[in-house]
Amino acid sequence: MIGLGVMGRNLLLNMADHGFPVVGFDLDAQKTATLESSATPNTTVKGVNTLADMVQLLEKPRKMMMLVPAGKPVDDVINSLLPLLEKGDIVIDGGNSHYTDTLRRVKFMEEKGFHFMGVGISGGEQGARTGPSIMPGGDPEAYPHVQPLLEAVAAKVNGVPCVAHLGKGAAGHYVKMVHNGIEYAIMQLISETYDLLHRGLGLDNDELHKTYKNWNDGELQSFLVEITRDIFLKKDDKTDNRLVDMILDKAGAKGTGKWTSQDAMDLGVPIPVIDMAVCMRELSAYKDERTLAATIYKTPSTDIPVPREVFIQQVQDALFFATIISYAQGLAMLHVASKDLAMDIPMQEVVKVWRGGCIIRSSLLEVFFKAYEKNPRLSNLLLEPEIAHLLQGKKQNMRNVIIHAIHMGYPVAGLMAALSYFDAYRSERMPTNLIQAQRDYFGAHTYQRIDEPGIFHTEWNK
Ligand code: 6PG
Repeated sequence: MIGLGVMGRNLLLNMADHGFPVVGFDLDAQKTATLESSATPNTTVKGVNTLADMVQLLEKPRKMMMLVPAGKPVDDVINSLLPLLEKGDIVIDGGNSHYTDTLRRVKFMEEKGFHFMGVGISGGEQGARTGPSIMPGGDPEAYPHVQPLLEAVAAKVNGVPCVAHLGKGAAGHYVKMVHNGIEYAIMQLISETYDLLHRGLGLDNDELHKTYKNWNDGELQSFLVEITRDIFLKKDDKTDNRLVDMILDKAGAKGTGKWTSQDAMDLGVPIPVIDMAVCMRELSAYKDERTLAATIYKTPSTDIPVPREVFIQQVQDALFFATIISYAQGLAMLHVASKDLAMDIPMQEVVKVWRGGCIIRSSLLEVFFKAYEKNPRLSNLLLEPEIAHLLQGKKQNMRNVIIHAIHMGYPVAGLMAALSYFDAYRSERMPTNLIQAQRDYFGAHTYQRIDEPGIFHTEWNK
């Protein structure tokens, strides 16, 4: 393992716990010492401070994973390794690299006779230690060498490891990027429900805890709802308040959500809930302007005029509806990218790998798994009858929540994006005929007709 940050160290200790002798490299001697001292007794864990020492200790073909920040650090590691490698050695990038960088590195390393794989890893610090979801892609020759190790350390669902080879080239990092896009979307949606229940309905942190607990015990069961439930109970150790109330409302982002949106635009796949999640994190950063604007425009009054329990149920249904739409958009994007970028992504395997260990794991993944089992080429989850049935059951409450939110002035951009996407997707006829008429009017861009084939242009002013 190259890079002994929390993720690298935890994943390496996880490998050692499964009986694999491991070596961890970091320039920081403190980190290598901590690695050895935190190893489980009777496991073989060695820390080294030079790459040369690491390479010497490994069996051939050497299997080396790096967990370093995306971008230049990955290229730096590759360049430092080059003089030490032998033909057939396998280098794995387990970080959140942009897939185009991974493609470039695969080609570069292949030309030199080395294997390079981009592998997405999800689950945070805890997941790395006890069982993450692992998304390897590329180099089919190298994969069998690392498969037993990855299967051993991955999370298990019904005994099945949450790891599978997910396609050609940079497919592993591509799938992880879209995973993170969906993660952004669901986090945005949960934050909107929090706003509606907290500011809109006046629920305090204990009541919020109870509400998200109930949701997590039901059909919204998921890692993100589960941690949200627990967040409301955490006390601040500097004040008498709950920690969540002391956290500044400016969201950070390392870029994977934005990359998902950028790439979806390039592919021509609409993923508006993910786009909106990226935008809302960006808007949150304009704290000073928002503070000023809040003095100009009235803030919403607190009461949403619906009985508490009724509104909580409506919000629960809206979150369920919009969460399904978020997965549907991300998976529809993967479906197109698989073909257009020649990755051959096995969709059912993706959903299988996401069932456990990762940040977007949820009981819904079982439903999606069955959908792809029936039809591995499903272009959009919304076309699957069982999923349509789930959405139909929730759509009225989805509308109710948005009506109240708009009426009272609460921002629900993610929920609205989900519903608008749904309403447009299920429209046989969109108002796009008018856009075509306008384009032809001012730019002679031509249009097609509904009653005969061909390309037409009209002199609109004559
Ligand atoms: C995961 C997470 C992980 C990381 C995100 C955070 O699957 O384990 O997605 O990769 O926590 O990159 O991303 P932001 O900093 O952009 O929110």
